[in-house]
Amino acid sequence: VRSQGGLLSLKLSATPTPLALAGQRATLLTYGGSFPGPTLRVRPRDTVRLTLENRLPEPTNLHWHGLPISPKVDDPFLEIPPGESWTYEFAVPKELAGTFWYHPHLHGRVAPQLFAGLLGALVVESSLDAIPELREAEEHLLVLKDLALQGGRPAPHTPMDWMNGKEGDLVLVNGALRPTLVAQKATLRLRLLNASNARYYRLALQDHPLYLIAADGGFLEEPLEVSELLLAPGERAEVLVRLRKEGRFLLQALPYDRGAMGMMDMGGMAHAMPQGPSRPETLLYLIAPKNPKPLPLPKALSPFPTLPAPVVTRRLVLTEDMMAARFFINGQVFDHRRVDLKGQAQTVEVWEVENQGDMDHPFHLHVHPFQVLSVGGRPFPYRAWKDVVNLKAGEVARLLVPLREKGRTVFHCHIVEHEDRGMMGVLEVG
Ligand code: C2O
Ligand code: CU
Ligand code: CU
Repeated sequence: VRSQGGLLSLKLSATPTPLALAGQRATLLTYGGSFPGPTLRVRPRDTVRLTLENRLPEPTNLHWHGLPISPKVDDPFLEIPPGESWTYEFAVPKELAGTFWYHPHLHGRVAPQLFAGLLGALVVESSLDAIPELREAEEHLLVLKDLALQGGRPAPHTPMDWMNGKEGDLVLVNGALRPTLVAQKATLRLRLLNASNARYYRLALQDHPLYLIAADGGFLEEPLEVSELLLAPGERAEVLVRLRKEGRFLLQALPYDRGAMGMMDMGGMAHAMPQGPSRPETLLYLIAPKNPKPLPLPKALSPFPTLPAPVVTRRLVLTEDMMAARFFINGQVFDHRRVDLKGQAQTVEVWEVENQGDMDHPFHLHVHPFQVLSVGGRPFPYRAWKDVVNLKAGEVARLLVPLREKGRTVFHCHIVEHEDRGMMGVLEVG
């Protein structure tokens, strides 16, 4: 769905939908009848007017993940009761570009609603897309979302899922199991979105490096060659692929150990044990065209601004009570009536986020995209707007956060079970 004359106006229902999925019949929850939901394509300054109709048997709402727009519009505290509708209207910020997404954000129910299929992408096109090396590339959006079915429906959460975050055995790309992408051109621009509740994707393309050109919320300053790319839940990236020979190449998720726990029965007692790395998963088959001649890489992308000096340094500590499946920030579980941090619009802050737990936590902040300075004591490899940063056990991330819009919003772990079980706080900007 594309904006026309500066306006993208549509109505979407959140509704149970019977679908054919990976060769099975299943009833998911969808936006507008499709899984993933419709991809919204807009340009900076366009108006988005989206009416969400709730045809679920429970309340829901919608969050515009990654967009620096007012929390009065992108309100994570709003509840749309069953049978009712709500209209979200905002202007796409100027100078914004990238791959964003929308999903429910009703605290306590985010994990089951997202797992069941409520998600979609929002692409903000940019004037930079016109540079020849990007304009001539063949663009594809790949939405990575795993699923488990039980009796023709998304499998319900077990106590273990509430602890680890729920993963599914069907690892789908755009709702399909191991699809084939037949490339017409030798240079591809892939927009990648990890819309999974808890699954990590350590992405690698057989025989080819990836050229990272954009992170969550915008372009890098120049392409960065990587042999693999870790996408934590909620994260996005754009990469260029330069196909150099004919053939079929696997896009895979390599094994990754995020510290998830398994249950072991030891003499009638249940014990949580580290689960170890996942298996490699083939996500997609990529067929290169005959005689491929890839384009040169763009030399420069988008310069990143130098931000004003920070006025305050904050520390946020993430901890877990695994057995109770409770998760904390600075020792507290989420309470929508409590304000955890107060800041001032148009100032810059340093946030030091420390993971004192035993598993990875992808930390996410709404409304105020940030620059990652370092993770685990290592300088971050590039400058670009981010809104999710992954922290392995024991790591500290240092973020430079320019506060933009006034109002109340939230920060949380994007393993959405952890968010539902307390790992979220409230930021009030005045
Ligand atoms: Cu995808 Cu609160 O976010
Ligand atoms: Cu978000
Ligand atoms: Cu977490």
